[in-house]
Amino acid sequence: MKIKGNIIIGQSGGPTAAINATLAGVFDAGKKLTEGKVYGMLGGVEGLLQENFIDMCEKITTDRELELLKRTPSSYLGSCRFKLPEPVEGNEVYEKLFKIFEKHNIKGFFYIGGNDSMDTVKKLSIYNDEYKKTDIKFMGVPKTIDNDLVVTDHTPGFGSAAKFVATVTKELVRDSLVYDLKSVTIVEIMGRDAGWLTGASALAKGDDCEGAAMILLPEVPFDYEYVKNRVAQLMEEGSKSLVITVSEGVRTKDGKYVCELGSEKGTDAFGHTMLTGTAQTIATMLKNDLGIKTRAVELSTLQRCASHIASATDISESFAVGQAAVKAASEGETGKMALLKRVSNNPYICVTDTHDVREVANLAKEVPQSMINENGDYVTEEFIEYVRPLIEGELSQLTVNGLPQHIKL
Ligand code: F6P
Repeated sequence: MKIKGNIIIGQSGGPTAAINATLAGVFDAGKKLTEGKVYGMLGGVEGLLQENFIDMCEKITTDRELELLKRTPSSYLGSCRFKLPEPVEGNEVYEKLFKIFEKHNIKGFFYIGGNDSMDTVKKLSIYNDEYKKTDIKFMGVPKTIDNDLVVTDHTPGFGSAAKFVATVTKELVRDSLVYDLKSVTIVEIMGRDAGWLTGASALAKGDDCEGAAMILLPEVPFDYEYVKNRVAQLMEEGSKSLVITVSEGVRTKDGKYVCELGSEKGTDAFGHTMLTGTAQTIATMLKNDLGIKTRAVELSTLQRCASHIASATDISESFAVGQAAVKAASEGETGKMALLKRVSNNPYICVTDTHDVREVANLAKEVPQSMINENGDYVTEEFIEYVRPLIEGELSQLTVNGLPQHIKL
């Protein structure tokens, strides 16, 4: 069955190294399963409200361009952090959007994003079900380096970010041991509500790497006294240099972000605190209290745009999940999110499926207690087994002048 009309795709929220692979998957399946055109909204739903979109078939015309899209970091179509109002009858934002859908004969709406973006898909499909009753299919397609969406085994984009985080942790451990002096390097990793990505730094540890001394997740209240005493103890026991990985979202037991202990931070459109400076805050405290050299490394946006070390598993799953969303819509599904379902770990087999987006939006999946050690300062073997297959494989590089080649609008 084909979708009888045009479809439109948008990207929303923070980008990843694999979100364009999902865009490529939606586009590729969209060309085959749609009778009309495949549009791309520029700047997410915020751009769509300005009727700002392109015909993707005019932009991605060759197989190489499709391959480049899969390998290009960031969101090709641009992004937004735009919160739709509550879907009450007659609301002008929804009325405007549905007029745009009608004007351009849009029959499929595909939105690639995290839990805030699934809120957009949920609200649009509620508004349609309750008041508009059109045959437009609304589908969410997951992405986020945070890996905090419920229902899906993991989120597209996470595996590549995890591979980068584990790689640089290995490199930082080697570097930290170069001088014969005591030092602590604190590495700050993204993940507002869940420590999946920070936990992935555990993959660094192996025969060729000492690994991180502590892994501090937002699931465990941050206890500075514990961290300080543990560092002092490890130094006394003979450790020279330590690397500690910490999630940007760690909070004290009274709920204050550690990064806010330094200075107040602003918020974004969804009311989320801008998280930055966690590593620096801890590094300064340890330096002052223990009198040792400390260094803060904030991986910041590097961890979500490092497509040069993307996980081949992640890129191929990201593409597949985009295709699955279009296939489901063409078969009549709406108000759903496409997802990944792990069938087995050894051998690693993962398939796609769909689930009601209303049961996904705005929820955050945390690292469960069984994957965190008793002291709350490292992950367990169960966590490592879960993450390891997701970082497997590398893509061949398409290069220009000795550098990875990207595609841009
Ligand atoms: O989309 C998830 C994420 O990458 C988080 O890990 C991070 O806290 C946030 O986005 C940063 O968002 P922005 O780039 O909008 O500041």
